[in-house]
Amino acid sequence: MDIPRHVAIILDGNGRWAKSKRMPRNYGHVKGAANVEVICRAADELGIKYLTVYLFSTENWRRNQDEVRALMKLFHSYTRTAIRQARENNMRCRVIGDPSALDETLQNNLRELVESSRENTGLNFQLALNYGSRDEIVRAVRSIARDAQSGKIQDPGQITEDLFASYLDTADIPDPDLLIRTSGEQRLSNYLMWQLAYAELYFTPVPWPAFTKKDLELAIEAYNQRTRRFGGLVKGEEDTEVH
Ligand code: IPE
Ligand code: IPE
Ligand code: MG
Repeated sequence: MDIPRHVAIILDGNGRWAKSKRMPRNYGHVKGAANVEVICRAADELGIKYLTVYLFSTENWRRNQDEVRALMKLFHSYTRTAIRQARENNMRCRVIGDPSALDETLQNNLRELVESSRENTGLNFQLALNYGSRDEIVRAVRSIARDAQSGKIQDPGQITEDLFASYLDTADIPDPDLLIRTSGEQRLSNYLMWQLAYAELYFTPVPWPAFTKKDLELAIEAYNQRTRRFGGLVKGEEDTEVH
């Protein structure tokens, strides 16, 4: 079995899952947050090296303010738990997205999570928090413009795909091989649009709080049945023509 090196997940359906149980949406978020740990362990056990989960998008601020407040509160406790879990499971955690809109305490928790896990050698776990692909790209372009102004970049020809990627939040992280979106929707919702250029896409009706290690295995099985191509050539056999 070919295990994807990097799996990206859009964890969706917390609210609908809770509703199906006649519970408030926040119950779904609480269970969903708990499931992140379960799937981190599962990913590590399966030999996945990078896991990136979408926890809160730049668009999610538009939700009902009570829900946004509840989510932020949940992220406070979740990040405290994550600091412990990273230590116990040897996970290296990174944050993608713009933390500047998050409150001070949450930003401090995130910094502690990243700093305290920097030397860990197990699963590379990326938390996408206040993340939006368009926002990430605009922030990257601003940084490039600043470096052009200061003379660090002197010729527009220096701006290559590799250079551009090094300005993204995912610099140093390989592109995802597999994207999983739970709960039935089939769209990217502003997630990793640059990085997913050649990922295999897998959609499952299972809502995130009910998504298990078995479901992750099913996604990997489906991934194994795909013939990955890149530019019309079978991946890994780039000199083999595809007819
Ligand atoms: C995913 O579940 C969690 C976040 C986006 C924060 P949703 O909250 O989107 O749940 P549904 O899609 O409304 O069921
Ligand atoms: C995408 O889910 C964002 C996260 C999973 C954090 P949403 O539920 O917010 O996306 P849409 O609105 O259905 O596209
Ligand atoms: Mg949703």
